[in-house]
Amino acid sequence: MIRRLCAVCWIASFLAVLLPAGQSQNAPAPPTGERIAFPEGYPEKYQVLRLVDKADKKQVVTVYGNDAAASIKSTSQLPYPYSSIIVMETSSALTDSQGKVMLDDKGHYRKDKVLGLHVMRKERGFGQVYGQNRTGEWEYVEFRPDRGYLTPPEKSSVCAECHLKAGRQRDFVYRGRLHSDGGN
Ligand code: HEC
Repeated sequence: MIRRLCAVCWIASFLAVLLPAGQSQNAPAPPTGERIAFPEGYPEKYQVLRLVDKADKKQVVTVYGNDAAASIKSTSQLPYPYSSIIVMETSSALTDSQGKVMLDDKGHYRKDKVLGLHVMRKERGFGQVYGQNRTGEWEYVEFRPDRGYLTPPEKSSVCAECHLKAGRQRDFVYRGRLHSDGGN
């Protein structure tokens, strides 16, 4: 009888050790990509929020927002509404045979190949898994153009950690200059 009780105790204590470990504070970000899907058709469906030519890397960075994200035009309208999705696309710039970047008729670099997509999405209750790096209700992921991950959800805590520096007053979004920002 005593032996049997102890066996029960042992199993109970074993479970007690295992269960909280599964919900530790350092738990990784959500294990599936379903919380942030690949943003199909973003070049047509989303609005361009920012376009930057990066001379040092010969790259073009374009920040796109879906309608919810694009609805924010000045800092006074923050925070971003739920269902906001922001995509930061990095492309190589088109170069001529001498390796010189080619410009379009507005004097901007012309895009060659898309290299990667940084995506952040805001939904009610998102972001909790980042613990001390939590940036409001945003979660992050980075896609390759072929829809695979460059940074999978479980490695995306680094994204949150740096966006924390954009600050709560900007809802953790850098996005360069927002109207009435004072030109930052
Ligand atoms: C070392 C700091 C740092 C890290 C790490 C970082 N970001 Fe950013 N992110 C920035 C900065 C700074 C900008 C603004 C760039 C600009 O506008 O030229 C930015 C811009 C963005 C934007 C466009 C919206 C905005 O905030 O301006 C998205 C989307 C984004 N990052 C997602 C990600 C994702 C996803 C990851 C992780 C894979 C990530 N970031 C990692 C600093 C960081």
